[in-house]
Amino acid sequence: MKSISRTRKPLTWQQRLDNYTKWTGFPQSMFVSPDGRVYGTWIMGNDYRVKSTYYGGYPAGYLHRVRALFPDRPYALHLFSGKVDTEAMPGDTVDINPHNHPTYLDDAQTLKKVPLGLYGLVLADPPYSVEDSEHYQTTMIKRNVVMRALGEGLNPGAYVVWLDQVLPMYRKDQFSLEAAIGMMKSTNHRFRMVSIFRKRPTPKK
Ligand SMILES: C[S@@+](CC[C@H](N)C(=O)[O-])C[C@H]1O[C@@H](n2cnc3c(N)ncnc32)[C@H](O)[C@@H]1O
Repeated sequence: MKSISRTRKPLTWQQRLDNYTKWTGFPQSMFVSPDGRVYGTWIMGNDYRVKSTYYGGYPAGYLHRVRALFPDRPYALHLFSGKVDTEAMPGDTVDINPHNHPTYLDDAQTLKKVPLGLYGLVLADPPYSVEDSEHYQTTMIKRNVVMRALGEGLNPGAYVVWLDQVLPMYRKDQFSLEAAIGMMKSTNHRFRMVSIFRKRPTPKK
């Protein structure tokens, strides 16, 4: 396990987008709005297959794109990790299913075993529906409870990159929503959204 929580000044979003273009070679498909938030679209094209073939796994190329946005955070916490490719995005893993051999066998809704303060970047890929969770033989998660657990344990400045069909409910005093990126896989696949949150500073008492 490596400690990767950063305290130094983070890159600006424009620097992150410039790095994304440089590392991936993809044309610009995101911009920083005057409201300070990033909006964009990722079309996965031929790069959409799941290398591990795990149900609901990240499409090939997804992790490379995320990594390109966060060159300053090379070691992540993969939440709902499944069979995530940690060569594509190095990090520790959290899953409730022991068959996935996670670093932390834990429920994302409590995260009692996870030293969240060590991580400056969390990638979350929950089941999207009751039907999806049946594939993993789990009950459907409560997204707001997961976000609350993250909000309580992460250090200020940490990012959460949440891939879903729903914007998870979050506390505005814990997180700001900094980026909203639509993701299109290929025909006849569901649209998804990459929502990127940043943990807010703890208010002074
Ligand atoms: C969409 S899959 C993630 C796939 C992963 N991104 C990959 O590339 O392989 C969702 C994962 O969430 C796990 N899961 C479901 N409920 C959970 C919970 N309450 N806490 C932690 N993990 C959970 C499932 O076991 C499953 O591996």
